[in-house]
Amino acid sequence: MKRYGNIIGWGKYVPKRVITNADLAKTLDTSDEWIVTRTGIRERHVVGEGENTSQMSIAAAREALDMAGVRPKDLDLIIVATSTPDYLTPPISSQIQHGLGARNIGAFTLVTGCTGFVYALATAQQFISSGACTTVLVIGAELLSRFVDWNDRETCVLFGDGAGAVVVQATDTPSGILSFVLGSDGSGGEHLIVPAGGAANPPSHKNLDAGLHSLKMNGREVFKFATRVLGKALRQAVQQAGLEAKDIDLFIPHQANIRIIESAAQYANLPPEKVFVNIHKYGNTSAASIPIALCEAFEEGRAKVGDTLAFVAFGAGLTWASAIVKVAENVKPTPKPWWQNLRDGWFSPDPSAKKESRSMPTDERLPEPNEEKTRQSG
Ligand code: ACO
Repeated sequence: MKRYGNIIGWGKYVPKRVITNADLAKTLDTSDEWIVTRTGIRERHVVGEGENTSQMSIAAAREALDMAGVRPKDLDLIIVATSTPDYLTPPISSQIQHGLGARNIGAFTLVTGCTGFVYALATAQQFISSGACTTVLVIGAELLSRFVDWNDRETCVLFGDGAGAVVVQATDTPSGILSFVLGSDGSGGEHLIVPAGGAANPPSHKNLDAGLHSLKMNGREVFKFATRVLGKALRQAVQQAGLEAKDIDLFIPHQANIRIIESAAQYANLPPEKVFVNIHKYGNTSAASIPIALCEAFEEGRAKVGDTLAFVAFGAGLTWASAIVKVAENVKPTPKPWWQNLRDGWFSPDPSAKKESRSMPTDERLPEPNEEKTRQSG
């Protein structure tokens, strides 16, 4: 039986603190008029003291899990897309796994810039369709306000902070990612780069004084790249799904620039009423922008269960990614393959007991590795 990865829950977190264009114009040589006409951005949400990427991710994930009716202990895998984790190491995915109270399941961080959420969703789908996982948490989170130079008007006006999450669960109902396109062209890497702080240019007083720890962008080159790849990637995903533009109920693009969004929609023959835009409120939240927009599209009634959605993003790398996603009814999950139960540490040869075990609380399974250790040492 074919296994699909249906999105059964979604959630978001955006910091309370809002910085408007007028606020920025107080300290920068810029204006509300310039920012709105060139980008579509009116304001952005920015973290305050004590807020960080893991905390935003956990808040978004809890909302998505609650909506899906899934407990953290029922998750099989966590994938976090971000370029702005709390630390270089440990991985933020493990911080989030622990913070949520999930089992000691696999968790990893995926770094592809603003395309991260679509890459992560496509990855989750592979784990589900192969039978390796039944329930996967996918998070897109970003805290760019601590990586931009607030004196650089060419970058700081563009970005905002936030997180979005979805719960993807196996089902035999055709749903989830119907097609996807992933791409990268590293020859353009220099156009969107944090030059120092990594292994190539470790942190030093010299680098810090030169401002090399903050994001540098060649806006015109990124703009040209985005308008070149976005529409094409969108059109390819629609074709690969065996659909036409008229079959797409809502286009939810990465929110980077209203002019880029409009050009992609036009290229793919999607009329403005089928395009979801919230860039005016949040700016570019990078890997978080599509899942935040997805949540708002549902909140506003622009997206409905049963809809076929189109996601498309571009970002650092340079990378691009698109996906056609059908959100089906929240149907019962497909049972795990027998070998997955073995792997998870539980197996019963009694078919009736096996049926019951689908709702068996995780706590009743064999102990997790760390519990075993505690028991042995105790
Ligand atoms: N306020 C006022 N003037 C400004 C500002 C500002 N905030 N920023 C730049 N300008 C000036 C420039 O200095 C330039 O002045 P000049 O003509 O005297 O040299 C003038 O405005 C025009 O600059 P352009 O770069 O030609 O402006 P453009 O219309 O291309 O818009 C923008 C700039 C908005 C950055 C655009 O190029 C863009 O959106 N590029 C894509 C950026 C993007 O999406 N980045 C995110 C990538 S995703 C990720 O992974 C993080």
